[in-house]
This record gives sequence, structure tokens and C-alpha cells, in this order.
Amino acid sequence: MDQRQVFDVLVIGSGAAGLAVALSVADSAKVAVLSKDTLASGSTRWAQGGIAAVLDSEDSVKAHIKDTLTAGAGLCNYNAVKHTVENGSDAIDWLIEQQVQFSKDGDDYHLTKEGGHSHRRIIHAADATGVAVSQALIGQAQAHKNISLFERRMAIDLITCEKFNMPGKGVTGAYVLNDENGHVETFRARTVVIASGGASKSYLYTSNPDGTSGDGIAMAWRAGCRVANMEFNQFHPTCLYHPQAKSFLITEAVRGEGGYLLLPNGERFMHKFDDRLELAPRDIVARAIDHEMKRLGADCLYLDISHKPKAFIIEHFPTIYERCLEFGIDMTKQPIPVVPAAHYTCGGIVTDECGRTDVPNLFAVGESAHTGLHGANRLASNSLLECIVYGQSAAKYILEIIKEKQDVLFAPDWDESQVTDSDEDVVISHNWDELRRFMWDYVGIVRTDKRLLRAEHRVQLLRKEILEFYGNHKVTSDLLELRNLVEVSELIIRCAILRKESRGLHYSLSHPDLLPVAYDTVLTP
Ligand code: FAD
Ligand code: SIN
Repeated sequence: MDQRQVFDVLVIGSGAAGLAVALSVADSAKVAVLSKDTLASGSTRWAQGGIAAVLDSEDSVKAHIKDTLTAGAGLCNYNAVKHTVENGSDAIDWLIEQQVQFSKDGDDYHLTKEGGHSHRRIIHAADATGVAVSQALIGQAQAHKNISLFERRMAIDLITCEKFNMPGKGVTGAYVLNDENGHVETFRARTVVIASGGASKSYLYTSNPDGTSGDGIAMAWRAGCRVANMEFNQFHPTCLYHPQAKSFLITEAVRGEGGYLLLPNGERFMHKFDDRLELAPRDIVARAIDHEMKRLGADCLYLDISHKPKAFIIEHFPTIYERCLEFGIDMTKQPIPVVPAAHYTCGGIVTDECGRTDVPNLFAVGESAHTGLHGANRLASNSLLECIVYGQSAAKYILEIIKEKQDVLFAPDWDESQVTDSDEDVVISHNWDELRRFMWDYVGIVRTDKRLLRAEHRVQLLRKEILEFYGNHKVTSDLLELRNLVEVSELIIRCAILRKESRGLHYSLSHPDLLPVAYDTVLTP
């Protein structure tokens, strides 16, 4: 990479959000897209159920808005919901133009159902929607002459005029670890877009791929951006329970297509918790499973769709069918053992309708952003929709500003003259495990003041130790992820402590009631 090169747009992340921005600006801008691993390594590729949008004549924008607001438990930003839902069907048309192959039902697209949705409105590619989206968008980006794609490049920190006391305002680029040779490169850019996904790796058990360590949220926080509602980490109710399965997700569409949740004795139990039974919003279902597991001392509960015809199951859920078979579970004949796992970061970097953050020329889109769409609990399949809708809104605004912005960019090179190679990598692996375990135990599905204060104490100690280590040693991707994880975990804990009620995904035994007025938890650096 020629480090003197100046990009119009530097996009940190090659998932649905980052590529939606890149593809939407690339006809008029020079774009660099970074992925800290391979291009398809983020959560996008793992999406199963699909993308929610109003695509059926019996459905309506009003109904999708209402379902989103209901799931969000009074905390959604109405304008963000309206903006996303109203632009939903255009976003799907755009994906189809990019060659995403969605599943058909005769001449029409097949729409499935998921928890909290009053209509069938989830367009999907069987049970591997993320693979279809990721492959199509990466293919388009690879073919575009104005997009340069960089794999195994991990952004470390943003470069801002304010931080280095340079003339001008806002972000001018980022320091990036080239994981292939260990060098730190300086990427200079007129605008920077954080599209680096969520922070669910803060928890011991997660449906997310490795790498969801909240890097973008931590970088934006260090650069001076506000962060909001980090206490609302969504737990997906049904991940495959098997020692080798590494929290493989069993899509909510299995319940949407008629699957039942069962206790170990084969009884259904969701009627005890919600009239919508298995299709109640995720926070309610995950909490019900957690409650029953604790009550019975069970390691897992079960999800059963074996009453449906075998051909139907295999047609709709080919990936899950194959994956379960690898572990000796035939879902056409027997229930699937399931447990909840950390799945989605509803909070994030505070942004407006154009993806703008508090730092000039810095944008955030996708799971790392907090637009207000999800409120206290994300409605299933609204995430990929948000990535595309907000990716495109940010793109429009970015094109406006780069037209005017041709000023000289200042960005000093990385200085590692004061650091040495690490000789104690055990510090990283030990702290990594400890952090994720106490986040699971103390800041999980059910919280108490006492557990949160315990977690706060632990995280502050770990943070001090990790920052000291970071300050003295050459950076590696493991150390950088740990530094970010401890930062975002602290943000999650601080937000959770500030919320003195139970709302949506934040359920506290110390404050079981809902306050009459809903407010965002906003942290300012
Ligand atoms: P990601 O797709 O996670 O991409 C993040 C990118 O950032 C990656 O390229 C990564 O390498 C890069 N990156 C991260 N940190 C750095 C760094 N420091 N430097 C450089 N690059 C970096 N949502 C739905 O709407 N429908 C579904 O059916 C659905 N199913 C899901 C199933 C699973 C198993 C999971 C895990 C999630 C699912 N979700 C679903 C949620 C949805 O997939 C994600 O919220 C969404 O894909 C996030 O997209 P993104 O572009 O924001 O981030
Ligand atoms: C799923 O398929 O259950 C995941 C959908 C989502 O996270 O939106």
C-alpha cells in the first residue's frame, strides 16, 4: 500500500454495512475497505433467517413500524424506525440488483416469519441469507475499479486533528496493523466509516464469529464519540447445544415455520410466559429459556420441528439440517438441544440519520452504530435491513462532503520507538477468558446491582492491566482485540448500572419494574 495515497472514503469493515457504503459511493469516490480477517469473516456471512421488509400486499409499513416499536419496548427512536422501514423495499431491490439470490416460492419471493413479526415479511436465501448477501456484495466490490479491498488489516485507532493537535477538524485516517507482516500502516482519508460490527464476543457464549470484539465502538469512544444503550446486548434464544458446536445458531425461522420449544420432559412451556408463545420477541423467549433451565438445573432445552414433513425441513433449513447431522442430531426425527447465547449489540456509536457521529467526517453504520432503530430489543431480521438503509443514507451524505473537501490531510505515522515485543502472551489469553466469563456470569440475561458492581470492579482492574501491557508492547491482533473488548465491556457495565429498571433486554432483579418514561443511556467520553 502506498501510504501517501489519500482515499476519499476509508471503510473499516467488509460486512453488509461497510460494503453497502462502499458500493454506493464508489462511482464517484476512491474507496478503501478494510477487513481484519478475510472479507467474509464478519457476522453478515453467518446470518440465517433473512431480512425484514414490507414486500407483501397484505403487509404494511405501519405494521412493520408497530412491530419494531413493540419489540423495542418503548425505547426506539420513531424517526429511525420510520426511515428504516420506509426504505426497506428499496433496500431489498438494491440487493437483488447486486445479484443476491433470494429463495423463491413460484414466481414470488418466499417470505418467512420470525418472533415479534405480525406478518410474513422475512425475505431470505434458505437458511443461509448471509452467505448470499456477503458473496454478492464482495463480488461487486471486487469488480469495482474504485474500490481497494484490504484483508488482514486491523484498524487500531482513528487519527483525528484534535488528538494530534493538527490544523483542521475531525478524522483524517486510521492506524492499521497489517497482520501479514506485523507493520502498522497509516491510511489517510477524507472520510472514515466505522462498519466493524458488534461486541458480542464480550460474552463467553455467543452466536457470533471470532472478531466481534467491538473494535469500532472502542475506537470511536477513544476518538471522542458518544456511545449509547450498550446495556442492551441481545441474547438469541436458540443456539445449538453441543460441546463442539461453538454456539451454532438455530434460526428463529424454525419457530416461525412451526417449531416448538420443549422442556427436557417434552412439555411445551412458552404459554407460561407470553401469549405469542414461541414467536414472542427474543428477549422474552431467551429469558423464559434461561428461567426454565435454572429452575430445572437443565444444561439445555429443546427445539422441535420434527412434526413437519422431512422434505419441508430440508428445503427450508438445509444448512442447519446438515450441521445438526454432523453432531448426530437428525432434526427431521428428533428435537434439537438449544441454549441462549449473546447475539447482537443493540447499542453503539451515537449516529444521526446519515450515519454521522460526533467527530467531523467520521461515520458509523451497521451493528457498531446506535441509530435508535432497535430500542431496548432488536426485532428479528431488522439488522441487515439497517445495514443497507443506513449504509445508503451515509453514502449520500459522504458524497456531498467529499465534493467540497479537497484540503490537505495531516496524519502522523505510527510511533513504536518506546515498545518491545511481548514475552508474556499468557496475560492476553488469561485476561481474555476471565473477562468473557464474568461478563456472562454477572452481566448476562438476568442482572442484579450486586453482580453489576462486582463486574465493574473486575473490569476496572483488568482494563488497567491490559492498558499497561498495551503501552509497553508491540501490538498484535490478539492484544488489540482484548484492549477493545475490555473497553466495550466496561461501557456495557456502566450503561447497565445506570439503568434502574427492567426494559427489553436489560432485566434486573434489583429493579424489576419499568419506569414510566423511557430514556437512552448515553455515555460521553
Ligand atoms: P459485520 O458483518 O460483523 O462485519 C464487520 C466487519 O468489520 C468484518 O469485515 C470485520 O473483519 C471488520 N472489522 C472488525 N473490526 C475491525 C478492525 N479493527 N479493523 C478492520 N476491520 C475490522 N441479522 C438479520 O437481520 N437477519 C438474520 O437472519 C441474522 N442472522 C444472524 C445470524 C448469526 C449467526 C449472527 C451472528 C448474526 C445474525 N444477524 C442477522 C445479525 C447480522 O448478521 C449482523 O448484525 C450484521 O451482519 C452486521 O453487519 P455489519 O456489516 O455491521 O458487521
Ligand atoms: C435468526 O435467523 O434467528 C437470526 C435473525 C436475526 O438475528 O435477526
